[in-house]
This record gives sequence, structure tokens and C-alpha cells, in this order.
Amino acid sequence: MDKIIIKGGKKLKGEIVISGSKNAALPIIVSSLLTEGWNTVYNVPDLMDVRTIKRLLVGLGVKVEEGENLRINAGSITNCEASYDLVKTMRASILVLGPLVARMGRARVSLPGGCAIGARPVNLHLKALQALGAEIELRDGYVEAKASRLKGAKIYFDISTVTGTENIMMAATLAKGTTVLGNAAREPEIINLSSVLNDMGAKITGAGTDVITIEGVESLSPVEARVIPDRVEAGTYMIAAGITGGDVTIRGCDPRHLDVPIEKLKEAGVKITPLEGGLRVKGSKGIRSVDIKTLPYPGFPTDLQAQMMVLMSAAEGISVITESVFENRFMHVNELIRMGADIVIEGNSAIVKGVKKLRGAPVMATDLRASASLVLAGLAGEGKTELSRVYHIDRGYERIEEKLSSLGADIRRVRE
Ligand code: EPZ
Repeated sequence: MDKIIIKGGKKLKGEIVISGSKNAALPIIVSSLLTEGWNTVYNVPDLMDVRTIKRLLVGLGVKVEEGENLRINAGSITNCEASYDLVKTMRASILVLGPLVARMGRARVSLPGGCAIGARPVNLHLKALQALGAEIELRDGYVEAKASRLKGAKIYFDISTVTGTENIMMAATLAKGTTVLGNAAREPEIINLSSVLNDMGAKITGAGTDVITIEGVESLSPVEARVIPDRVEAGTYMIAAGITGGDVTIRGCDPRHLDVPIEKLKEAGVKITPLEGGLRVKGSKGIRSVDIKTLPYPGFPTDLQAQMMVLMSAAEGISVITESVFENRFMHVNELIRMGADIVIEGNSAIVKGVKKLRGAPVMATDLRASASLVLAGLAGEGKTELSRVYHIDRGYERIEEKLSSLGADIRRVRE
């Protein structure tokens, strides 16, 4: 397994370009299952999770052509099963369930199982698919679903779920009649998917609000789709600039997707100015503590919680960080404490007391965003940080060590 070695203390300076959003690319790639013919997807990031979803589609008989952009043809689906060995490496594989039932009338998808940040059940996906008329059985760790034709229904999600909203929105595009999703997730990735589906011929309104209406159609046609920039990658590099006292221009991000993180970073003393097609982010000496509570979009994103905790660890004062989306998303805390952070967990809140300096140390990544936070801590910390289990970070950050090196960081990857 690879390791990332960082020598901390360098101020990041320069310009980077943000890649396409992992969490927008995955559902858009899956949505090609609803069409026959060649779809082209632009701005797809080169990430392990994207390679996994492509492998999964190929296993279903879908043609996938790599090149300057991604081309996908689901004209002849020969298999409707997503196996455990693939699904266990990436929970977002559950996204094939709705489209397969809608297009093929059946699907057999492994239950994802838990992950480091929580149990992450898919009960809401299944309950909603049943409401659309699918017969659902759980057998041998798999979801077996079938429906001759899905029927539109009024659905209310007890919890705002991103992939649940995406799964059901895709399934409902080919249902007979109209579906209304209440308490739908409002993330920008949902709007991106909805506009791609509408380009395919779907009739979706309300994406981006908590009520999405889908009027079922008979079939959908292949399209050219473009993935929006990755707001979590952008937020991570903004925090990197803030914590190293650097001066970084972040190109290609969409600041409208980062309203709350930008407000919080400004409150903490990070200077952020909008530029044509991006943002300029300058760290400052006295980073101030701010309180954070993660919430579904447009609230503070849970995917930036760990990264913000690192900034607060190096701030002046005490910050309370409350994780309200996942039940176990503090796996980075113990590793940060080993780097000199002063953090105490009380229930689903972390009390973070700023320290003068973080210190480099050998640390271990546990999940995608926790590993990004440990890279940030290594950049800011004195001395050397050795991050193991780097495969976690490769799931969601394209060429992270190249992008950081181009900003002057002393960071390299070593193959073990
Ligand atoms: C998506 O995960 C993202 N992944 C996650 O990003 C992100 O952290 C999360 O949304 C929240 O924003 C992708 O888009 C591929 P949820 P998802 O369903 O859809 C509970 C990253 O780092 N829930 O919105 O799986 C669930 O346990 C990843 O890029 C149920 O109880 O998250 C959680 O507490 C990590 N039953 C809450 O809802 C269900 O059926 C929100 O989860 C579904 C969800």
C-alpha cells in the first residue's frame, strides 16, 4: 500500500484547478443505464470510485469507452446483478438499483454494509422503491427487486438522503405517472443529475428544493453530460491555504456551492475574494475559533467537517464541532491528537482547543475525508508526517500530491 510523506511548515502559494465532482459524476454515470445509445460525460474526475462504478457497469454488460471524455452505452444490459465484492468497496454502487428496476424490471444488488463513518443503511432507498411498486426481498445480503412497470407515488424521506433522492429520482423517470419526493436532498449534485436526466427527456422539476416532482415518460435518450466542479475538493484546498498561511487561487470551483463554508472560513479570519471563475484564498496569522454544525445542504457539509477540525486545532480559542449527519464521523480525532491537537469528544460534538503548533507524526487514514484532514494537519504541522492507507484518499481526490506540490508543499507518495 502507498504512503504519503509530508514535511510541514510550507506556505501554499500558486494556483490549482478543481476537478469534476465525485458525488456528481457517480450518479450521472449510472444514469446512462436508463438510455440506449452512446452517452458522453465531460469533466469526469480520475478517481478510484469512478473506476469502480465503471467496472460495475461493464459487469452489467454496459459498453464503456475511455478517452478524452467518458462514453457509455447501456443499449444491451446483459446482467442485473451488482456483486458484494464491488459494492463493499463503494457504497454508492446502490445507485444502480433504481435505474435497473426502472429499465429492466429487476435488479439484484448487494447491501453495502456499514462503513467507517456509520451504519449507513439504505432502508429509505428500499422503502421508496417499494412505494413505486417494486417487490423487494432481502436474501443472502442482497436486495432483490422487481417490477413490471414502476408506478408514480407520493414519497416522503424521513431523513434527507443524497443518494436516496438520486436513486429514486432516476427510477421515477420511467415510472407510469407522477412521483413527488418530499424532504428531498438539495445538494448541487442533485441539480446536476436532474438537468442531465431532463436532457435525456425526463420531466423533473424542483431539484435543489426539498420537493422534487418527476412525471414518468416511456423512454430516455442518450446525451452529452457535464459534471459540476467538486465543492468538497475546493473546500479542502481553501482550508489548506488557510491553515498554512498561504495565498492560493482556486480555479474552476463554483463559489455558489460553498456559501456556508466560505462564511465560516471568513469568520475564522481566512481571506476569501471571488475571482473570474474561482476564488483567491489567503491564510492569516490569527485564525480564530468558530463553531460548526454539519447539516444537509445548504448547511455546513459533513464532508468538510474533518478538514475544518484541523483548522480549528490550529486556531486561537475553543470551537465546538457538531456532526449531525453521520453517527461516527470523528475517526480522525485520535490521529489528530497524536499530532498534538487538543480535542475532546462529547457525544456527537468535538470540543477543539486551538494549539500553537501541530506536530508531524505517523498517522493512518480511516476514511476519505479523515485522510484529507490528516494531509492538512501534515501540511501545517512541524516536522514529518507519514500517512498510511492512502487508498482512502485516492477515492475522492484527484492527484492530491501533485496539486499540493504545485503549490509548494513538500509532499510525496512512496510505494510500500
Ligand atoms: C452522500 O452519501 C455522499 N456520497 C457522502 O459523501 C456525503 O457525506 C453524504 O451524502 C451526506 O452529504 C455520495 O454522494 C456518493 P445520505 P449518502 O444518504 O447518500 C442516513 C464523501 O466523502 N440514511 O445523505 O450515503 C445516513 O445513515 C461521501 O464523498 C438512512 O438512515 O448519505 C446518514 O446518517 C461520504 N437511511 C444520513 O441519512 C437511508 O436509506 C444522510 O446520508 C439513507 C441514509
